[in-house]
Order: sequence, then C-alpha cells, then structure tokens
Amino acid sequence: MSTTLSPELDELLSAARDARERAYAPYSNFRVGAALDAGDGNVFFGSNVENASYGLSICAERGAVVAAIAAGFRRFDAIAVAGPQGELTSPCGACRQFLAEFNPSMTVVYTDRDGPVATTLAELLPHSFNPFV
Ligand code: THU
Repeated sequence: MSTTLSPELDELLSAARDARERAYAPYSNFRVGAALDAGDGNVFFGSNVENASYGLSICAERGAVVAAIAAGFRRFDAIAVAGPQGELTSPCGACRQFLAEFNPSMTVVYTDRDGPVATTLAELLPHSFNPFV
C-alpha cells in the first residue's frame, strides 16, 4: 500500500536513491541505498556492500547508521530505503533490530511494488528489545 510522502520524506527517499547509485552489489545485483535523518539537516548515507564471501555483505541501512555514529550523531528521526525500482525493499530483520537500538519509533520509508510506503519502526518491529524498555 503506497503512500503520498511529505516533502521532507520525499527528499529523504530521493537521497536514498542517490545512495543506491553507489551500492556495491555485484553478486545479487540488488542495489540498495539508505538515507538516515539525524535532525537539523544532517543526513547520513548507506549503500549495500557485498563481498565474495557472501555472508559478509552488509545492508544499506546498517551502513547509514555506522556512518552517522562515527560522525557523532545518535538521534535518528527517520530513515528512507530505496531498493531496485518495482521491488519490495523493506528493511531486513537484522536492520530493524540495529535501528531500534537508537530510536524504536523512528519513521521508516521504503518502497514496495507500487511505490513508497511510510511507516514506523515500532510497526515493523513490535515489542523490540532495546535500551528504551
Ligand atoms: N539489502 C539491503 O541493503 N537492505 C535491505 O533492506 C534489503 C536487502 C541488501 C543485502 C544484499 O546485499 C542485497 O540487498 C540482496 O539481499
């Protein structure tokens, strides 16, 4: 079920699409970008990075969190995730847990077959285990 996004979330999704261009995904060919809103105009990017040892591959969402933490940011309001056009790309279970560590109720925008979906992490990962409980 796709949603009409606010201008801010539409811009965040557009940033995620830019990050998707930088994905390193030669094994799956499934390119993903993420843009993480850390408040006050600070946006951090992630792209999936795969490896010849497939299991070492890391998702775009976790890459964005790592970049933000390394830059000194920990308060995340929203994340947008852009996978291949026309493919459902909601954050995987590992990324949901990784994001919940910092804000279990952040806004999450992802795309499904019809277009963008805006939801919350609490909706995607109810009753999560995190430092806020
Ligand atoms: N992937 C992401 O980066 N984020 C998601 O939300 C879904 C999956 C990556 C992992 C792997 O490199 C490729 O997409 C195929 O699963």
